[in-house]
Amino acid sequence: MTPGYRGLIHRYRDFLPTLKDGDIVSLLEGNTPLVEAPRLAKAIGAPQISLYLKIEGLNPTGSFKDRGMTMALSRAVQEGSKAVICGSTGNTSASAAAYAARAGLKCVVLIPEGNIALGKLSQAMMHGAEVLSIQGNFDQALELVKEISASHPITMVNSLNPMRLEGQKTGAFEIVDVLGHAPDYQFMPVGNAGNITAYWMGYKEYFDKKKAGSKPKMMGFQAAGSAPIVNGAPVKDPKTIATAIKIGNPASWKKAEQARDESGGVIDAVTDDEIIEAYKLMSSLEGVFCEPASAAGVAGLKKHIAQKKLDLKKGAAVVCILTGHGLKDPERAIAVSPKPASIKADLKAILDHLKI
Ligand code: F0G
Repeated sequence: MTPGYRGLIHRYRDFLPTLKDGDIVSLLEGNTPLVEAPRLAKAIGAPQISLYLKIEGLNPTGSFKDRGMTMALSRAVQEGSKAVICGSTGNTSASAAAYAARAGLKCVVLIPEGNIALGKLSQAMMHGAEVLSIQGNFDQALELVKEISASHPITMVNSLNPMRLEGQKTGAFEIVDVLGHAPDYQFMPVGNAGNITAYWMGYKEYFDKKKAGSKPKMMGFQAAGSAPIVNGAPVKDPKTIATAIKIGNPASWKKAEQARDESGGVIDAVTDDEIIEAYKLMSSLEGVFCEPASAAGVAGLKKHIAQKKLDLKKGAAVVCILTGHGLKDPERAIAVSPKPASIKADLKAILDHLKI
């Protein structure tokens, strides 16, 4: 047993479904930093607030999925399952592959061909998953996974598996434990809509158990070309550069609407340009590099500040969930950045270029 932090199942055991120690599959996920971001707050027009970034990219496989996967794989082991399966825009497959490897289970992942960021694909491949590149989109992949897992002895580890949401709700616990209270607002991206559902479960549970005196407004953001909840209808051919949330028919649609309505929050859309702007602002102003989809929450915050839709008093606590690490999608980062200057290995040439 590694000394020190033992992962989120040990930490939040009293709030999670029961698991025996011997069944726990963990890579010491959770306990991610909540970083204050005053320069970003100022840049988006709300210098008076206390803005925090929850850096979920610092989980073991670089996304929040690890919170759910430690629960899903532990339960799969407890039930004697020999294999797991998921459909994924990338991060779920990376996490499932890693936790299945750790547990010694077989892992099958269905990904939409040509629509998954390189870092994520490399992870699923390296962890030894059977990777099936589907000639279709995420929604089709998920339908196939549902059919396969319903009729074959293979455990589905998409967020329709209730263990996933149980694990992911611990993100809310950590935020309250660090701040000492619930935030006023939480901003986050919405794709298949599991994570907004899980966070709301977590906040409600902490409130009911008197660990927090209030609950935040849940503010979820879809990409404009892929915004079924905002449009009120499934999107057959979703489009966005934020491939993680390129989803046209979210599995937890109704639960996300419930989280929005019970909390007095909003589910809205942001354009790809707004996403890229927030993505660049965060990395250049705060040194925090997340993947494009993760920036949707910050883009949403900026948009709603500009529209004066929020009640942001001095010191209001606002948390943005940065769901995945920037290194997941290096191609996008390079595409939106200026090209490095190519210069002779010569002192004068460098000084002339720098004009110093
Ligand atoms: N951010 C990132 C980086 C994601 O990978 C996802 C979902 C989301 C946000 C949205 O979360 O689906 O719970 O609303 N990625 C899934 C996947 C769909 O397959 O990796 P959600």
